[in-house]
Amino acid sequence: MGWKPETLRKRRVIAVDLFAGAGGMSLGARWAGVDVRLAVEIDPHATRTYKTNHPGTKVLTKDIRSVKRIRTGKSSDTRILFGGPPCQGFSTSNQRTRNAENKQNWLYREFLRLVKQWKPQWVVFENVKGITETEGGLFLEKVQTELSSYGYTTALWVLNAADFGVPQCRSRVFVVGSSDGHEVPKPRCLLTPSRYITVKKALAGLPYLSNGASENRLPYRTATRSAYAKLMREDLSDCDNHLVSRNAPHVIQRYAHVPQGGNWEDIPLSLMENYRDRTRCHTGIYHRLSLKEPSVVIGNFRKNMLIHPEQDRGLSVREAARLQSFPDWYVFQGSIGFQQQQVGNSVPPLLAQAVFEAILRADSRPAENGAVRSDRLPHDGKTPGKRFQKRPSILTLSKKVD
Ligand SMILES: C[S@@+](CC[C@H](N)C(=O)[O-])C[C@H]1O[C@@H](n2cnc3c(N)ncnc32)[C@H](O)[C@@H]1O
Repeated sequence: MGWKPETLRKRRVIAVDLFAGAGGMSLGARWAGVDVRLAVEIDPHATRTYKTNHPGTKVLTKDIRSVKRIRTGKSSDTRILFGGPPCQGFSTSNQRTRNAENKQNWLYREFLRLVKQWKPQWVVFENVKGITETEGGLFLEKVQTELSSYGYTTALWVLNAADFGVPQCRSRVFVVGSSDGHEVPKPRCLLTPSRYITVKKALAGLPYLSNGASENRLPYRTATRSAYAKLMREDLSDCDNHLVSRNAPHVIQRYAHVPQGGNWEDIPLSLMENYRDRTRCHTGIYHRLSLKEPSVVIGNFRKNMLIHPEQDRGLSVREAARLQSFPDWYVFQGSIGFQQQQVGNSVPPLLAQAVFEAILRADSRPAENGAVRSDRLPHDGKTPGKRFQKRPSILTLSKKVD
């Protein structure tokens, strides 16, 4: 028998974001059309950012271990539980605590506990690519095995953010679970490498800044022809978070020796007294971004010290946010260190959007067990305004070339 969408019941797709951070994943979910009702995050600076940008979502500033149960939603809703438990312990750049001894590595159990309790139709577990290797893939295997034992079929995707219009090569792992046995095809890449969004296009129009810049809000420097920058800027004339770490004069002197795409190896040894021991250096140390390529991973600002492609200083919070695909209206809260951490921790919203769109597409098809959840209702009046309704269409990016 054929599939008849007109016979389907109206359903709302709601979600809960665990380990929500600044809300990168939530923003992508919203752009895909998901109504994110609840977010849980322990860090008060991150929840300030989350609340500022997602005024319609209830936010619990809490340790997830103290959240007994989730009650959000009606029985007619399609529910998605998503989140990315802390990943420092799984990151390949962290060889010290990348093992089962690291207590943070076990927080994924809290995620699974709430899956078991809330019984969402969909689950999205996100993490760094390093989780596929930590303890021989043990953690990832446990997540998948446990979800299977609760009746979920799972798909495992490793996605590069650059393929989805993010000006950054950043690979992330997603485990997508369906309680109805839906098959979810991996999201199709939107851009081929020759069309990747470059740092030049990403940062177009942003103001010149100096080392230690501390004026939060500034007007744009120029109008821009970059379709990506236009998408991020929308109709704004100025934006926030133009903050840059203040580096010591000897560090700025080192920056001056690094060409675009270069790193610490370009700095004369005489200026690298602290770094004489080359075994302690990796390619990310003193890396200057190249205008012609997407950025390398925006991670921990202190560890990686990314240098602006044309100015002898570190990246501003706003520049890093652009490279993560946060639009310019998205405001980060807290002091500069907290803002940098929030941006570096985030799932790029455009990548998250692609993941949730793939899920919603699958959700509108009949499942293995015959369940159908199509014909979704739009957001209710309580969820936030016009910014979320303007979904970025990444396909427009590939058409225009600067
Ligand atoms: C990788 S970040 C999540 C980023 C987020 N998904 C986004 O896209 O912006 C992990 C987050 O988990 C939070 N976290 C760590 N331990 C926690 C706990 N016990 N309870 C709740 N949140 C926790 C951290 O503060 C951090 O913001």
